[in-house]
Amino acid sequence: MSKDDKSKVNTTGHEWDGIQEFNNPLPRWWVWIFYVTIIWGIGYTIAYPAWPLVSKATPGLLGFSTRANVAADIEKFKGMNSALEVELASADLTTVEQGSDLYNYASNYGAATFATYCSQCHGSGGAGAVGYPNLRDNDWLWGGSIDEIAYTVRHGIRNTEDEDNAHYAEMPAFGEDYLAEEEIDNVVAYVRSLSGLENEVGDVTAGATVFADNCAACHMEDGTGDIAQGAPNLTDAIWLYGSDTETVKHSVETGPFGVMPAWGKNTSFIAGADETAVNAKINAVALFVHQWGGGE
Ligand code: HEC
Ligand code: HEC
Repeated sequence: MSKDDKSKVNTTGHEWDGIQEFNNPLPRWWVWIFYVTIIWGIGYTIAYPAWPLVSKATPGLLGFSTRANVAADIEKFKGMNSALEVELASADLTTVEQGSDLYNYASNYGAATFATYCSQCHGSGGAGAVGYPNLRDNDWLWGGSIDEIAYTVRHGIRNTEDEDNAHYAEMPAFGEDYLAEEEIDNVVAYVRSLSGLENEVGDVTAGATVFADNCAACHMEDGTGDIAQGAPNLTDAIWLYGSDTETVKHSVETGPFGVMPAWGKNTSFIAGADETAVNAKINAVALFVHQWGGGE
């Protein structure tokens, strides 16, 4: 070790282009903080979960666990909401006042339920997709009153899980020997004309007769549909499966058969919930859907 002549400070002996490196001791305050952090670090790993093991980490002496905290929070909120949940389970949904605690609870709960169980088919905003109805408009296959929506959610549509209660009506596949190709072309032209669409194939007047004979029983004489049978209104320019000639023809030939699960029997929907909780959940999501476009 050598000393720098002027400052009398030890140098490390390193030298680059005449510049020497001093060997000053580390500042005391810095060294102390350094030791304190080491002690703190060791203490922390003893007190809190820290060292990774095969399936979890060392638990720590304080027994701290974020999972337990979340569980405790959930319990706390459940406790706070349990009175509302019980109330919602048996509430007359038509009279729940907008802006009341019950309404706000149901609406938030319904939104969360919708995001989890409904959005994959009906879209996160409820606008639907081909074959999956838009729930935001006031155009309903099976009825848009809040109780009708709750019924649809609970029992579903054309499913096998709740066969006795699910909505059911089957449109015949008219392409299978019921109607000749020409009759189908004509009735397709007629159906499209009800929504004001122009046709290149088919005769609308002849189609009207085919319609009266084969379709009016479900879709009604004037084509406005029948909620009791889930037969869509064919005059409103809202289409479940599509409005182009090809698609309407396909609908008439094959008879669409939209299926929705019975949520009241769906194992993931009702998991861990007693009857009251299931009723509350169904009512919440029905109220949530109804506030978009209910009415009819
Ligand atoms: C697996 C897909 C799927 C999921 C998930 C689903 N639905 Fe449906 N839903 C459908 C289909 C398909 C129809 C239309 C059936 C038909 O053609 O009549 C429908 C119809 C409906 C209707 C009737 C609409 C009308 O016009 O009368 C309501 C209300 C409804 N769903 C609400 C919900 C709610 C609430 C959830 C979540 C709890 C949900 N759906 C989850 C597929 C689904
Ligand atoms: C037994 C009742 C019944 C009869 C008869 C019937 N339909 Fe339907 N129709 C339905 C039902 C129910 C649906 C909806 C099916 C679904 O939601 O999956 C439907 C759907 C349709 C659709 C699809 C509408 C859309 O929005 O995409 C068209 C088009 C249609 N029917 C035309 C006809 C025509 C034309 C006839 C006569 C040749 C006819 N239907 C006879 C019950 C019937």
